[in-house]
Amino acid sequence: MAELGKVSMEKIVSLSQRRGFIFPSSEIYGGLQSCWDYGPLGVELKRNVKDAWWRSVVQERDDIAGLDASILMHPQTWAASGHLEGFADPLVECKNCHLRWRSDDLKDENCPECGGELTEPRLFNLMFKTFMGPLEEEANVVYLRPETAQGIFVNFQNVLNTTRKRLPFGIAQIGKAFRNEITTGNFIFRSREFEQMEIEYFVKPGTDEKWFNYWLEERRKWYLNLGIKKENIRLREHGQEELAHYARVCYDIDYQFPMGWAELEGIANRGDFDLVQHTKYSGKSLEYFDEETKEHFLPYIIEPSAGVDRSVLAFLCDAYDEDIAEGELRVVLRLHPDLAPVKAAVLPLSRREKLAELARQIYADLRQCWTVQYDDAQSIGRRYRRQDEIGTPFGITVDFQSLEDRQVTIRERDSLDQIRVPISELKATLAAKLSGESLFALPPGGSIWKQGENS
Ligand code: GAP
Repeated sequence: MAELGKVSMEKIVSLSQRRGFIFPSSEIYGGLQSCWDYGPLGVELKRNVKDAWWRSVVQERDDIAGLDASILMHPQTWAASGHLEGFADPLVECKNCHLRWRSDDLKDENCPECGGELTEPRLFNLMFKTFMGPLEEEANVVYLRPETAQGIFVNFQNVLNTTRKRLPFGIAQIGKAFRNEITTGNFIFRSREFEQMEIEYFVKPGTDEKWFNYWLEERRKWYLNLGIKKENIRLREHGQEELAHYARVCYDIDYQFPMGWAELEGIANRGDFDLVQHTKYSGKSLEYFDEETKEHFLPYIIEPSAGVDRSVLAFLCDAYDEDIAEGELRVVLRLHPDLAPVKAAVLPLSRREKLAELARQIYADLRQCWTVQYDDAQSIGRRYRRQDEIGTPFGITVDFQSLEDRQVTIRERDSLDQIRVPISELKATLAAKLSGESLFALPPGGSIWKQGENS
């Protein structure tokens, strides 16, 4: 039997499918390799991850502006960026079973599937090609972007001119990217269609090292503030042989996934590579004019580039826990309240009409502010278990006494502690608790109801 409380990829995949976080794409047709669909809870979790990122890097700062560039871009973009030339993996094919492998992933010289002989490696470009317009000919080839970053570089002057920002400043973007990866796997860790959250932060040359270190720390803190355990995060510097063609320095923020340490986010000092290249290929000046020194120059770029899907996977793995609660084994997702797909569940003790009416009123009221569920099926214990398993921070129990005293019980997912609060104070209390206030900081008229077994 699996160790109690220990996370594994099987447990995450099983929970994701069982509770509607993530499904294989086009599952009724047998699935499409390494493409995934986010279900009703997954889409909320994913949106919360993106919102938390956007809030921290755009909304709460005045030096970063947002952008949403199109997925299809002028093909010259990819000549300038180096993707047409260099965005390729060495591919080998088994002469016997014809499966293809990334040669740099293989430990020995034969096919891992059947032991057959492999071909010599040849470079395989990872960009998905399609055609613009009705004619499928070479002149009409366009690519699905393999990263969101290039949409930012080509809009550098547009954003500069329209926002009048001064250096240092950044542009942030969240969006889909596509890579025809040869080796996929580990659930949503590496897929062919995924989402990125990227910042391109433009700085004066000479200040780049300082800003690189700043972003390394900022981004590490972001994961920790959203509840990732310190021991599961590490920074890893790329060796010279590993550096991408555009990078002067690069660190990965790695997470300790169940399959081992792997990249969650890359932070690179790209120097002036991108602006030099796009100036050369477009013929347009992308220089910045410094009003103080009266100098024209190309800014350097610091790039924190994160994966949405990998973050979702890391948050799920980190939050996963099993314990014995109220005398029973329970699976609990200890998600940060900002990320939890459902913030509270309204649970009437019985389906009797009077109680249901009051519970429904509370439910309707809370839904004005948050994603809330209503559940009146089966025993209260079963209903708590269901909410724990999807990470709902608070359960609100409406009982017969509620009809008399106009109070309800709030149960906290992690401690199992319970307080009793007037219905008139419920919204404000929930707002405070979701922002991190201790459960036992009581509103007027509130009382401690029960200390849980975990506290
Ligand atoms: N603009 C720089 C860039 O794209 P990258 O290291 O290739 O750098 C950045 O990608 C992030 O995007 C990675 O850290 C990862 O989180 C995510 N990512 C990249 N390829 C992915 C894939 N095939 N599936 C899921 N996420 C991926």
